[in-house]
Amino acid sequence: MKYFLDSAKIDEIREAYETFGIDGVTTNPNHIMNSGKPFKVVLKELADFCKEKGIEGWDKFPISVETNPHLEKAEDIIKMAREIAAYSPNFVVKIPCIPGGIEAARKLEKEGIRTNLTLVFSPTQALIAAKNGSLFVSPFIGWKESSGEDCGQYICDICDIYKNYGFYGKTQIICAAVRTGKQIAECATYGADIVTAGLQVFKDSFYHPFTDYGMKKFTAAWDKTITE
Ligand code: E4P
Repeated sequence: MKYFLDSAKIDEIREAYETFGIDGVTTNPNHIMNSGKPFKVVLKELADFCKEKGIEGWDKFPISVETNPHLEKAEDIIKMAREIAAYSPNFVVKIPCIPGGIEAARKLEKEGIRTNLTLVFSPTQALIAAKNGSLFVSPFIGWKESSGEDCGQYICDICDIYKNYGFYGKTQIICAAVRTGKQIAECATYGADIVTAGLQVFKDSFYHPFTDYGMKKFTAAWDKTITE
């Protein structure tokens, strides 16, 4: 399972790439706002990062960049998507799962611009994304679980539906708004392709107190050992 960082902050992306070897990045308008930088400046930083690391191309290190949420008609979404895609070969255009977004995603995929259908909260929304050829689909977990829903069956259903109709692996399932290590492990168990989460979620999920305990124990042993 791949790990994407859910952030538009270049320092966080750099740290997650160097330390944990993340496979890609997802952003949304909230992340761009939280970066404190203008939209186009963020896009340039992301594009430059990929050039610097020699990971140019959406197939090497995909970065999802969302269209202006004010745009709801397919033609308007397509126009902005083309502009986003022209910035960098790494950019995958993130489009909301609304009627105009579904139409736009299908047309953009046909012209070679890769898409990520987002704001997905049901298996049928995930199915329509796959039927229209999106590279990625982003079913949200954290928002649903915060409101009291259990997401296990929902992610399993999406995986099963994709397997039933040959979409599995073609439209890759990004479990989004992931908040805990438990959710990461569950998504991996169900067979999701990718999880996207904030840096602290990943850091917490890789921490275990027994690892610290072991480090102390082995350090003490090393100090009492003749090592020459
Ligand atoms: C995914 O691609 C979404 O942008 C993201 O996971 C939303 O989650 P948030 O609530 O953590 O911003």
